Amino acid sequence: MMLYMPVKVYQEKKCVENHSRELAALGTKALIVTGKRSSRMNGSLDDVKNALVREGIPYTVFDEVEENPSVDTVKKAASLGASAGADFVIGIGGGSPMDAAKAAALLLANPERDTDFLYQKARPEDGVRAAVPVAEVPTTAGTGSEVTPYAILTKPVLPEIVLTTAPGADARHDFPHLERKTKQSISHHVFPALALVDISYLQTASRSSCVYTAVDTLAHLIESHLNTNTTDYSRFYSEMGLRIWAKVKDRLLRYEIGEEERRLLMNACTLGGMAISHTGTSLPHGLSYPVTCEMGLPHGKAVGIFLPGFLRGYGDREEAMRVFSLLEFGSEQSFSEYIRALLGEVSIPDELWERDVNELLENPRKLKNYPFQLDHDRLWAMR
Ligand SMILES: [Fe+2]
Repeated sequence: MMLYMPVKVYQEKKCVENHSRELAALGTKALIVTGKRSSRMNGSLDDVKNALVREGIPYTVFDEVEENPSVDTVKKAASLGASAGADFVIGIGGGSPMDAAKAAALLLANPERDTDFLYQKARPEDGVRAAVPVAEVPTTAGTGSEVTPYAILTKPVLPEIVLTTAPGADARHDFPHLERKTKQSISHHVFPALALVDISYLQTASRSSCVYTAVDTLAHLIESHLNTNTTDYSRFYSEMGLRIWAKVKDRLLRYEIGEEERRLLMNACTLGGMAISHTGTSLPHGLSYPVTCEMGLPHGKAVGIFLPGFLRGYGDREEAMRVFSLLEFGSEQSFSEYIRALLGEVSIPDELWERDVNELLENPRKLKNYPFQLDHDRLWAMR
């Protein structure tokens, strides 16, 4: 059993201002990685810029991170940072900019490598350098990326048959009509050095953003709790997070979200991130990525629709019932009804679902965190 949580987290109002010295101590020139709008609207970008100016640290802003950021976007961010001489990265926003910041920090430390390296397992003899330091300023309560080592990017994929029959060819160039997109965590772990969490930045989030990110947190807590890698330590995080989530759930459904609810959701989010840092996620996340990429569903919604089926089919009934109890649901049915009321009905076309199920079954990496035997019919019933 092992506990490793190397991220220094401040959760308080004005923490960017209060801890500007620690932010500045990460390097001599900053690359700020963010999206186009929300960090401007909620004031987080200005707070970070002001903190850097006060500490005499020059910075460059890359503000082109889209939802579900692509490998190409990360490459652009890293190129901008390299040409400006940046030696640390600050991610501001939801999971997308925070994940992009980690991947850009890795590329900044390894400028001679191309982006394929993000998805290659590095051996010590390969001479791969650790990412430059990263600070994260979350502006949503969902992903927990500010405390995890994960960076999930969207990348193009070709069917296995193309890759095996046309090895050595420029397959992307030769078979563009067969290319699809998927989301996948990069192969390297990049823990942020510092997380500056100010719940004031959550105020401008829309109802849908608040709900979907909260459901993402719920999924992290459940998938970590019911996981091959779960330990007593990881369950300290997931159990506490589930109890906190239970306190907010009714007000989330009515969208009566004030400062106290935002604080609780942020706490649950951070605990969820700490939990999955130790266990990884499980089937709902694995199943969600093709649904996100092909149906355009937001991440939290795409994950959340699989939670009732995941719990319904979970191999250890006692453990599944324990989750319902921590969340203060009286039954499996009341949990399913709650999720449906929160997220609405989502219908996944049979063809996409068949492909999604088969891709998961063919991918041992995505199955390893689920502690029981799976077959097509069990997964099919999870929709
Ligand atoms: Fe997630």
